[in-house]
Amino acid sequence: MGAARARTSPFLHNTPIMKSERIDKIVGVPVLFKCEHLQKTGSFKVRGALNSAILAKEQGAKGVIAHSSGNHGQALAWSAQKIGIPCTIVVPKNAPQSKIDGMKEYNADLVFCDASVISRETVCAEQAEKLQYYFVNPYDCASMINGHASIALEILEQAGENIDSIFLSVGGGGFASSVAYLVGKLRPDIEVFLVEPSKKQLSNLLENGVPCPMDTLDTMADGVRVAHVGTLCEPILKEFCTGKIIGVTEDEIKEGLKLVWTRMKQRIEPSAALAFAGVLYHKPKHVKNPLVILCGGNVDVDYVI
Ligand SMILES: Cc1ncc(COP(=O)(O)O)c(C=O)c1O
Repeated sequence: MGAARARTSPFLHNTPIMKSERIDKIVGVPVLFKCEHLQKTGSFKVRGALNSAILAKEQGAKGVIAHSSGNHGQALAWSAQKIGIPCTIVVPKNAPQSKIDGMKEYNADLVFCDASVISRETVCAEQAEKLQYYFVNPYDCASMINGHASIALEILEQAGENIDSIFLSVGGGGFASSVAYLVGKLRPDIEVFLVEPSKKQLSNLLENGVPCPMDTLDTMADGVRVAHVGTLCEPILKEFCTGKIIGVTEDEIKEGLKLVWTRMKQRIEPSAALAFAGVLYHKPKHVKNPLVILCGGNVDVDYVI
C-alpha cells in the first residue's frame, strides 16, 4: 500500500480537511470532513485507477478498459491519458451526463450498453477481447484496493490524533476494504463505519452469510448502486467492519446533501452525502470525534433537490 502511494502521489492532490461550526452544533460533536470531492477527476476512484493503469502499462498492456457509470470511468480515462495509454469505457445508457462528459473530456473511447450488470460485463468482456486491453475491475481488484489506501494514510497524518472513527460510503467494497484494512492494521483504536443505502443489508452478509437479493439498488447515490461486495473485499470487511454497518434512507441522504451544499458550500455528490447521513442520523453514542470522507463531487449541473 505504501508502494502504491509512492507510485501515484506525484500526480494527485493531498486533499484538505474541512469543518463547519454549524454542522458540529447539529450533530452535537465536532465532525471533520476529508474533501475527496476535490481530488483529481472529482473522486477517490483516481487513487486506485491510476495505480492500476501504471501497473498495467509496466506489464506491457496496450490499453485499459472498464465498465462504469461514472467515477471509475473518469478516473481510469484521466489516468490513462496522464501516462499515455489508450482507454475504453463501457457506459450504461442511464449514466449521469456530467460523468459521461468527464470521460469524453479525458479522451476515453466510449461504448454504450444497457444498464443491467450483465450487459455491462458482457459488452466489456467483448471489447476487452477485441482490443486486447487490460480490464480494471472497479472494486474487486488488488491494485484498486492498494491504490485507495493513500487516502487512509493521509487521514492518519492529517487528523489521526483527533478522530475516533471514520465514516465512508460502501458500494462494491473496494474503497471500504482499503481504508478498513489499513486503519485496522495501523490504528485499531479508530473505528471504520460503512454507510449504505439501507436495502443493501451488508450486515446480513457479514454476520449471517446472506447476500442482498438484488443486483443493483434503486438509490440517488449512483456511485454505490452495486448491491454486492467483491469476493476480495468480503473477507476484509468481515474481519474489520462486522457490527459497523449503518443503513440510511433516501430522505436522509438528501438532507445530508442539502446541509453540506448550503452550510459548507461544497458541491458533493449524493454518494458522498450518504456517508455524512450516517453520522447525521445514526452516529453511535460512543462516537465523539468522527471524520466523514466526502468521496465524490461529480453531480450534474442541473441537479435539483
Ligand atoms: C463517489 C463514490 N463513492 C463511493 C463509491 C463506492 O466505492 P466501492 O465500490 O469501492 O465501494 C464509489 C464507487 O464508484 C463512488 O464513485
